[in-house]
Amino acid sequence: MLGARHFGAPTDAIMNKNIARRQFLNFLAASPLVAALGSRDTNAAADLTSLPDYLVKTPHNALDVFDMHAVAKNVLPTSHYGYLATGTDGNETLAANRKAFEKIYLRAMRMVDTKNVDMSTRLLGIDMPSPIVLAPVGSQNAFHATGEIGTAKGARRHDTLQLLSNVTTHSIEDVIAARGAPVGFQLYPTSNWSVAQKMIKRAEKAGAKVLILTVDLNSGSNRVLMGQYARADERDCSACHGGGPDDWLKSKPMYEGTAATSAEFDNAAMTWEFVERLKKTTTMKVVVKGIVRTIFPEKIFSPLPVKIFQGFHDLPWQIWHT
Ligand SMILES: Cc1cc2nc3c(=O)[nH]c(=O)nc-3n(C[C@H](O)[C@H](O)[C@H](O)COP(=O)(O)O)c2cc1C
Repeated sequence: MLGARHFGAPTDAIMNKNIARRQFLNFLAASPLVAALGSRDTNAAADLTSLPDYLVKTPHNALDVFDMHAVAKNVLPTSHYGYLATGTDGNETLAANRKAFEKIYLRAMRMVDTKNVDMSTRLLGIDMPSPIVLAPVGSQNAFHATGEIGTAKGARRHDTLQLLSNVTTHSIEDVIAARGAPVGFQLYPTSNWSVAQKMIKRAEKAGAKVLILTVDLNSGSNRVLMGQYARADERDCSACHGGGPDDWLKSKPMYEGTAATSAEFDNAAMTWEFVERLKKTTTMKVVVKGIVRTIFPEKIFSPLPVKIFQGFHDLPWQIWHT
């Protein structure tokens, strides 16, 4: 999501500050004063020096994706970073995701010819060179001036399926043009059926073949960390975001011409009947995203034939309706 422009963005001031901080920490670690503080503090200093502050200058320098996290924290406006970094409530799901990933290993294949590994697969009727897809992420201009268009160009380069958020900065038509292939369209439908209907027709006309219904915002979302970052941001945000949620919605191209209101975003009454209705309305394949695993999928009432894929242990189930 972060392109070259952002990786070049750390200013001299930031870099100088980091160098000065690093020098100070090295000085502290070498100081006899630290030894005199006792073992607990000596260990703390050792931790700090073993993980030096470092900001990669180009994406190619990144050792792993978390190198980009450090850059994002340094270059993004405070509240935009908060939007990027937050989970919901007390970040429990975010923490559970990380924990679950720690249990996933790459199984090394020794003494097997792995020179040419074929990772291609067919998912949702789409042939792809690897099973990696880009998850829907809203408002990408908050992170980079090219927003979803830049992401589309990256996805095009690697022939990756891009799942486009409903609350993008750029329209699905422009993104598909930049991607040079259909994207998947993610839907936050609102409680007004005609809003959903208009967006579905528009996505189909633009060429989308997959519809992702996100249901984890149906009763709102409590984003504590995001709120903490937002209140720490002293800029006047109204210049870009307007005066309230309806202005925010008006700035989103996919809701253009739908007459959607922010009050309709609360969709707590949605049930599987809505999925049935979607299915009758669209020719796109339907994926339900955001079913949190508080009930076992076998017990979910669904009148529809569904394929159920478990992501990872302890991660939310994804229901793929084909
Ligand atoms: C900044 C940000 C914006 C997101 N926007 C959306 C969105 O508009 N629609 C959606 O369905 N999911 C959205 N998500 C959720 C992601 O699609 C994804 O489900 C979530 O980040 C978990 O995957 P991960 O562990 O790879 O980050 C967003 C996530 C982030 C971090």
